[in-house]
Amino acid sequence: MMQKTARARANIALAKYWGKSDVALNLPAVPSLSLTLEPLTTTTTVTFTADLRTDSLLINGKITTGDALARASKLLARVRERAGVPLFAHVESKNEFPTASGLASSASGFAALACAASAAAGLPFSPRELSMLARASSASAARSIYPGFVALPAGKEGDSSLQAEMLFDENHWDVCMIVAVNAEGAKAIGSTSGMERSRTTSPYYNAWLAAAPSYFNEVLAGVAARDLARVGTTMEESTFAMHACAMASSPSVSYLQPATLSALETVRRLRKTESLGVYATMDAGPHVKALCLQRDADRVERGLRETPGVLRTLRAVPGRGVEVLA
Ligand code: DP6
Repeated sequence: MMQKTARARANIALAKYWGKSDVALNLPAVPSLSLTLEPLTTTTTVTFTADLRTDSLLINGKITTGDALARASKLLARVRERAGVPLFAHVESKNEFPTASGLASSASGFAALACAASAAAGLPFSPRELSMLARASSASAARSIYPGFVALPAGKEGDSSLQAEMLFDENHWDVCMIVAVNAEGAKAIGSTSGMERSRTTSPYYNAWLAAAPSYFNEVLAGVAARDLARVGTTMEESTFAMHACAMASSPSVSYLQPATLSALETVRRLRKTESLGVYATMDAGPHVKALCLQRDADRVERGLRETPGVLRTLRAVPGRGVEVLA
């Protein structure tokens, strides 16, 4: 049977990707640097079978059609073409964290899908090829192929070979990401359309493009030196620049909820009054993710859990890259 299961982890960008240099090839306009996270996993099984007349997709037990199925089908079509497999596939995917709410489920989702589909089709794919394949579907997914601290360079228009690269594995640094979950359910506008609206309408888009490479370089130097203040300060700058660019779009692309601001305030207070090394980031959703050292994780988690509007917290540490399970 042509069936394989793969598991990938979410990643959170410390230096953000927002905006594309080539929409057709899905190339990011700016370099980004992320941390792959345990235990925020997606587990995906792909079965190529002669019984199907079209691809089918089940996410967390729910039949999924529309845009999500079309994106998965596009990736499957690439695998079919390369492997010379003329069969449609059934895809079953499970997330161990909230789907489509700014917790980078598309990153772990497409990384797991690229790996499971390639393995099921019998393709001898290297991490580099998996990263390229995943990137074509969702650029952040290119990073989830690798463990630990991962870079995705900006893409030059027309360069379909862009892929992520691992900088340091999951044992490099004892950091922790505490996620303050501030809402359940899908977000109002996905990252793909949010960043496209920013590119085409935000008066701050060019300023974002100009600033992003220096955020990337600073975060890279800080991660290499295990300098939390340097990484954290720049991560916050990258986050707020990205959100300012998005918010100034027309119509506005805004992911912040009241609980988001409260959680940001908690992070600032812990830093100021309790002298904790803790820094915040946010993606295309209302959650706040706090970066700190593992030894401070209990205090940070308690502070966020007690914040009004925060529903619950998740704790994650540097995690492994994608793997085939069976
Ligand atoms: C805010 O990778 O989801 O999480 O390439 O269109 O699928 P597409 O976008 P996606 O964007 C992620 C944006 C972000 C920042 C980041 O992860 O770098």
